[in-house]
Parts: sequence; C-alpha cells; structure tokens
Amino acid sequence: MFTGFIDTARADGDPDRGRKAFLQCLSCHSARPDLHKTGPSLATVAGRKAATVEGFGRYSDALKASGLVWSDEKLDAWMLDPRGLVPGTSMNIPGIKSTSDRRDIIAFLKAVKAEQSAERSPAPSNESGGSMMMGDRPMPDLEALGPERQVASLTYCRGTYHVRTVAGQVQKIWEFNLRFKSDSSDKGPMAGKPVIIPKGMRGDRFFVIFAQPSEISPFIENRC
Ligand code: HEC
Repeated sequence: MFTGFIDTARADGDPDRGRKAFLQCLSCHSARPDLHKTGPSLATVAGRKAATVEGFGRYSDALKASGLVWSDEKLDAWMLDPRGLVPGTSMNIPGIKSTSDRRDIIAFLKAVKAEQSAERSPAPSNESGGSMMMGDRPMPDLEALGPERQVASLTYCRGTYHVRTVAGQVQKIWEFNLRFKSDSSDKGPMAGKPVIIPKGMRGDRFFVIFAQPSEISPFIENRC
C-alpha cells in the first residue's frame, strides 16, 4: 500500500508499534489503570473528557478548564504540541514530531482502553507500561520487600547517611545520592517501615521510601 500521502495521525495506527512508541511517554505515564506517575494513567484516556482520570490529583487548572475530549484528533494535536493545544498545561514536552509515532500511540491507547473495558480485570498486562522503567514505581509492592530492603535506622553525619537494614547491613551513602520519597498507595511501604531501593546501574544511588512524608524527618537521626 502506498502511504506517502498520510500526514495526519488520523489514519489507523498500529497498536504494537504504538506500545514501543509509548516508551516516550513512560517516564511520566503508565498504561495501567492503577498507576499514576508525574502524569495520570493513560489506560482509559482515549475518548474520555480531559482531566477526569480517577485518583489523579495533579491536573493543571488549564487542562481542567479546557473542555477537551480526547478524540484521535485532539490526542494528535496534544502530542504534537501540548502547550499549543492547552496553554498553561503542566505536560512539558517538546512534542512528538513523528506522525507515525503519534498515530501508533493513539492506536495503542485505544487498544488499552478496549482491553480495560472488556476485562475490567485487576491484573493488566505488564508490558503495557507496568515494567520497571525509569520514573515507574521502583518495586511492584513495597510492603512485601524482605529484611535486606527494610530500613531499621537512618543516621546522618557530615554529608553521609548510614542506612541500617533490618537484615543488619549498613550502607553509607553520600547525601546527594540518597533521595527520599513517599508512597501512600496500597503498594507503598507499611507505616513506620521505610524501605531502601537501589537506583540506577552504578550502585551508589538509592531511594528511601516512606509511607508518609511526615515520617521522614523524625526517622533521621543526627549522630556521628
Ligand atoms: C515529562 C512528563 C510527561 C511526558 C514525557 C508525557 N506526559 Fe502526558 N502528561 C503529563 C502531565 C504532567 C499531564 C497533566 C497535564 C495537565 O494537567 O495540564 C499529562 C497529561 C496527559 C494527557 C491528558 C490526560 C487526561 O486525563 O486528560 C494525555 C492524553 C497525555 N498526557 C498523553 C501523553 C502521551 C501520549 C505522551 C507520550 C507521547 C506523554 N503524555 C508524555 C506529563 C507527561
């Protein structure tokens, strides 16, 4: 088939190619209904009114007031230039220039949506954005991690954190390489039982994740 004249994303895309093109979105979005990241889950976004995904509390006022409905055309315009379509949106990406990528992503989002409505199953496929990609939850279920990941104590001394795990190991981490996070979802750690997760390939960076932000400061002891 000669496709040289197709220059909008309205023609039918390929959901499988779209799954790969969706990697460009995965740092901020998942295609799992239960996982919001920087941006909302996109599992049910196709055809939906903008800024109405349940459980996502970080929409900009601009998107909430936009009155948009996510048709193919609007999704296309959005991916190409989010701030052009909705000035004031907090989705700050330069835009997806490839027409075929946009077309394929739209096909993928529609396929994911169709799957959701067909199954209503709580166990969506892992490939649809649930894998351990950057920006994703570092672990599927923080509550279930073993003693070598559970933090027993955390002390701070002159630029170094000493993290002692329940299993008894002590990790010394430069303060710039340790980040604190909270995860209040039902996948997060238990109250008062933060967990440590290695981050990146080099082995020198970590997250400590708490159930609630209010736990963070009281947990850290200043001691040399
Ligand atoms: C740097 C992070 C980031 C990236 C990358 C990103 N987004 Fe977003 N996206 C956001 C944020 C934040 C919002 C919420 C925008 C707002 O409220 O103004 C959003 C909102 C959306 C919405 C509207 C959701 C709704 O409920 O109305 C869609 C659709 C969307 N993004 C699609 C995509 C697609 C497709 C990609 C990949 C091509 C992508 N985004 C890449 C951060 C991102």
